[in-house]
Amino acid sequence: MTENLLITGAAQLLTVRGDAPRRGNSLSNLGLVKDGAVLVSDGKIAAAGTRKQVEARKGAKEAEKLDVGGRVVLPGFVDSHTHLIHAVSRVEEYELKIQGASYEEIAKKGGGILNSVKKLRAATSEALKLRARAALEEFASYGTTTVEAKSGYGLDVASELKILRLQRELKREQPLEIVSTFLGAHVVPAEFRGKPDGGERYVAVVVEQMLPDVVNENLAEFCDVFCDRGAFPVAQSRRILSEALAHGLAPRLHAEQLSHTGATQLAVELGAASCDHLEHVSAADIRALANSETVATLLPGCDFHLGWKNYAPARKLIEAGAIVALATDYNPGTSPTLSMPMVLSLACAQLRMTPAEAIAAATINGAYALKREKQIGSLEVGKQADLAVFEVEDYREIPYYFGMQPCWMTMKRGEIVYMRD
Ligand code: NIG
Ligand code: FE
Repeated sequence: MTENLLITGAAQLLTVRGDAPRRGNSLSNLGLVKDGAVLVSDGKIAAAGTRKQVEARKGAKEAEKLDVGGRVVLPGFVDSHTHLIHAVSRVEEYELKIQGASYEEIAKKGGGILNSVKKLRAATSEALKLRARAALEEFASYGTTTVEAKSGYGLDVASELKILRLQRELKREQPLEIVSTFLGAHVVPAEFRGKPDGGERYVAVVVEQMLPDVVNENLAEFCDVFCDRGAFPVAQSRRILSEALAHGLAPRLHAEQLSHTGATQLAVELGAASCDHLEHVSAADIRALANSETVATLLPGCDFHLGWKNYAPARKLIEAGAIVALATDYNPGTSPTLSMPMVLSLACAQLRMTPAEAIAAATINGAYALKREKQIGSLEVGKQADLAVFEVEDYREIPYYFGMQPCWMTMKRGEIVYMRD
């Protein structure tokens, strides 16, 4: 049996080749090849270029053939911000929000994240896993091949570990790549609220109890904190993330979503992998990001779902030279979507990113945000054969046809993980 696969028939092949990460003008450079082909060998890319170039490569003749029939081929999406494991939707809050209740008002009344925490603690591991597995299949059907996943709906030692252990099992049992982030500091759980120094005492649990267990079991690569009004202030976030760093977990932050707190400056100070949301960033924050390696991850699905008008200033970030990435933020409270194509549509229409910028932000810069830019995020020799084929003639039609299901086939490490009937 041959181990090689020759993919031909790409009307447009977006290699997204070149330096990573992408800033400024280079975000638009998709390395587009007409009549493109890819040679896959043992799950990795052996060649990517024009059909003529690739067919001339050693091993191409004997390879198994796959003609994608004039469709558009690009690197699989790298979704660098999701809350994969949760028990159920919060559709009851959706109606309250439509009637005018704000996200923060609902949270203050015990809804919001605490609502999801109650449900997760009551759910069995089997039920959580089943839901997450279905979600992962859905992710693949939209062209996503790598998914970052945060804990954060457990908020006690046992439940946080339960989530991260489930993520580890899922990593082994299904084909998509899962990158785990420990988010014990999502909010202060109900049992600590209203107690003197409740917040501080919970932070001590995160740092002294959860973090060592997460590290000992090697359950996460990253540590995240929701640093915002109603969640954790900058000082507590600094303490948690500094401890995480000392334990070998790279920091990332939920920053400036509901208010301006200084979380972005903290992210830059700590050399965080990313700081995410950024609806309320200041001009100084934008400058700081531009002069850093910290990725500005934008999550327009949240603003869309919550009906907010203050989308993050993507153009200013790009023009200043910050590293901009896009992700779904798949979660039951602010962004119940698994669709990167929908996120691209929002990025184009609301963030005023071009289709080319949006695709690079959702592939190579997402990979950089997960410290995997050497393995994934572009179609270059030696990288994993992670790619998505879209049922369009021109890549710009991926965001143009919004709310559609434009993906025809998804491949992870050379294996087909989704194929339209
Ligand atoms: O990324 N902002 C904090 N965390 C999530 C929302 C979580 C929830 O509402 O369940 C977010 O928007
Ligand atoms: Fe989030």
